[in-house]
Amino acid sequence: MHATARGSRAAAKPPAGPPRHVPSKGRPHCACPPPRRSGPPDPARRVGRRALVTGASGFVGRALCAALHARGDQVRAVMRRPAAGPWDEQWNLDLGTADLPAGLLRDVDVVWHLAARSRPSVGGSAAAREPRQPELAEARAAADLVATRALLDAVAAGAWLQRASPGAPALVLASSVKAVGLPARGPADERTATPPDTRHGRAKRAAEELVLAAAERHGLHACAVRPAPVYGPGCGGGLRRMLRAVDQGRFPAVPEVGNRRSLVGLDDLVAALLLVAERPEAAGRTYVVCDGEAYSTRRVQLAMASALGRTPPARTVPPWALRALARSGDLAGWLAGRPAPFDSAALRQLLGSAWYSAARITAELGWRPRQDLEGALPAMVAAYREEARGSGGLEERGRNRGGGRPRRAER
Ligand SMILES: NC(=O)c1ccc[n+]([C@@H]2O[C@H](COP(=O)([O-])OP(=O)(O)OC[C@H]3O[C@@H](n4cnc5c(N)ncnc54)[C@H](OP(=O)(O)O)[C@@H]3O)[C@@H](O)[C@H]2O)c1
Repeated sequence: MHATARGSRAAAKPPAGPPRHVPSKGRPHCACPPPRRSGPPDPARRVGRRALVTGASGFVGRALCAALHARGDQVRAVMRRPAAGPWDEQWNLDLGTADLPAGLLRDVDVVWHLAARSRPSVGGSAAAREPRQPELAEARAAADLVATRALLDAVAAGAWLQRASPGAPALVLASSVKAVGLPARGPADERTATPPDTRHGRAKRAAEELVLAAAERHGLHACAVRPAPVYGPGCGGGLRRMLRAVDQGRFPAVPEVGNRRSLVGLDDLVAALLLVAERPEAAGRTYVVCDGEAYSTRRVQLAMASALGRTPPARTVPPWALRALARSGDLAGWLAGRPAPFDSAALRQLLGSAWYSAARITAELGWRPRQDLEGALPAMVAAYREEARGSGGLEERGRNRGGGRPRRAER
């Protein structure tokens, strides 16, 4: 396994030369022996499976690789920048620009395609809703699609599909609940026909279509998993921003309006990603993955405050006041020709619903979530604090400045 990996056009610009293999310790070299594992063999391990995980160094990819590694699979990791992690070999290449090396899929049984740079536009501020550089967001979404196409070309071109190992080769795409828009009522699921309403969602939907079409064409076991926003130690995105805002006393004291937002725990998502690759019924299917809870913004805020050891604001801003503020923001935005920091769109982000159902994966594959946000928050807070310490206490300084009191509802 060790001498075949090649780095190609790594973001960190690796030196040209012989094939590059970066073992899990992170120092590039080649012709090195595979990493040894100590201790007696675990009979429960299914030794011999080889996985390719794109986006391995990301929040989800790292957890998936750890689970694969722990059960004895050989993990080939793909990411742009070199990183140490729970994998046996890593290939540093940009899937969005590279001609994929011929050996990338060699001996691989299952591909988990997680690599993506496109982000959903979430958050309560106009800046977060509309990326500062829309052309960059567009370019990222386009590059993600190019990456998926490149991977599928490699699948079609190679001998991979002819592999005779037990269990067909499988390809699992990490899509997103954003691949569909929200229905007028009730939770969205795989039958929801509302088209995606963000560029991120449209790119995910297009990637799904490419993967599932390729699966049909080649008789490949392929499946698209649509996670809700994922919580867990080290998570990013809107949850991370909210945790920080609650910690720093900058999150508005939102009222309980009974809005419903779906989320999923990292470990549950990893279990779903593993399951769909194994189960024949999952071939050609799309699965929403969320934890079954319907979180209101107020519930998340209180849970975060409690896990952070902060006193939640006693009084909440009444909905009518938020609506009035949002309307003034609409007017200010109209006059200025660009969105105000808090307007009706921001209010929808703050108190709107994004509710999904994972009934299909539960009914068809027996997947059941074991986590909820409240249970996961202590570990998330510990990771957040650890990270804050690592970044020189910036988070802590910001936290103390806020003094626990919400400042203004526009934050
Ligand atoms: N996290 C969530 O809440 C969530 C929710 C729904 C769906 N998803 C989906 O789940 C997947 C994983 O999400 P995540 O949160 O783990 O993302 P993440 O933390 O941002 O990690 C992204 C990973 O993809 C790699 N990558 C990006 N573009 C690449 C390219 N062109 N070529 C090679 N590698 C590339 C990155 O490597 P470098 O850093 O080296 O570029 C990194 O390893 C994504 O497809 C995402 O859309 C995530």
